Amino acid sequence: MKIALIGYGKMGQTIEKIAIERGHSIVCKIDINQTDTFDSPQFAEADVAIEFTAPTVAYGNYLKCFERNKPVVSGTTGWLEHLDDIRSRCADGSQTFFYASNYSLGVNIFFELNRRLAQIMNRFGEYGVEIEETHHIHKLDAPSGTAISLAQGICDNMDRKNGWTLAPEERADAVRITAFREGEVPGIHTIRYESADDLISITHSAKSRRALAYGAVLAAEFTMGRKGFLQMKDMLSF
Ligand SMILES: NC(=O)c1ccc[n+]([C@@H]2O[C@H](COP(=O)([O-])OP(=O)(O)OC[C@H]3O[C@@H](n4cnc5c(N)ncnc54)[C@H](O)[C@@H]3O)[C@@H](O)[C@H]2O)c1
Repeated sequence: MKIALIGYGKMGQTIEKIAIERGHSIVCKIDINQTDTFDSPQFAEADVAIEFTAPTVAYGNYLKCFERNKPVVSGTTGWLEHLDDIRSRCADGSQTFFYASNYSLGVNIFFELNRRLAQIMNRFGEYGVEIEETHHIHKLDAPSGTAISLAQGICDNMDRKNGWTLAPEERADAVRITAFREGEVPGIHTIRYESADDLISITHSAKSRRALAYGAVLAAEFTMGRKGFLQMKDMLSF
């Protein structure tokens, strides 16, 4: 597979390593000062563009790829006000766009486990439910986007919860999320169901950002021969 990398920061560089390990070639790299490269013969040669840049520029990059009929795999966060537009450009099967807010396979398996556990626990009102997340001290946002997705997965499957609150705030009908910031922790998420008698918990613990880059390369492989708007649930077939 011939890959164009759009954004050559932390993710772009890790994706390059993994793509080469998996036998792919990087035919073109476009970072902030090379945006005219979209019109190069190297970009024209690419089978797919993998885009990890910044919220303000991502949507413009998607349109440049679509104008040149290149499938896009993107992980950039913070551009979702354009999501409906991107979906509609893919709806007639003319464009291909793969998006995940988290490309880690483990996190996506954990999302599915979380949804199924919430379905089971829906019947057992004696259990409270809460989420704890721990990340490195450089992370500016709290709670994490992954914790919010987990809370959403619980609310979608549990009648007694509707929304989330950030501790110390509490609301009986909301999933409480407690966020810790410690050292260089890549990311730990725990779901806890607790009754007066026992505790059930599930945890996902990331070891590095490599899992995110690996998932993005798998997603690029998945786009080959496919059209439309694609997500992790399509690739993982839960
Ligand atoms: N979905 C996921 O799994 C996932 C995982 C990690 C990061 N992210 C997101 O991906 C994005 C990038 O993350 P990162 O850690 O690589 O950031 P980074 O800051 O290390 O890299 C971003 C790169 O994009 C470049 N860039 C900026 N404007 C550009 C433009 N107009 N055209 C081309 N390149 C441009 C920057 O120069 C930089 O090299 C962020 O939005 C981050 O939140 C998502």
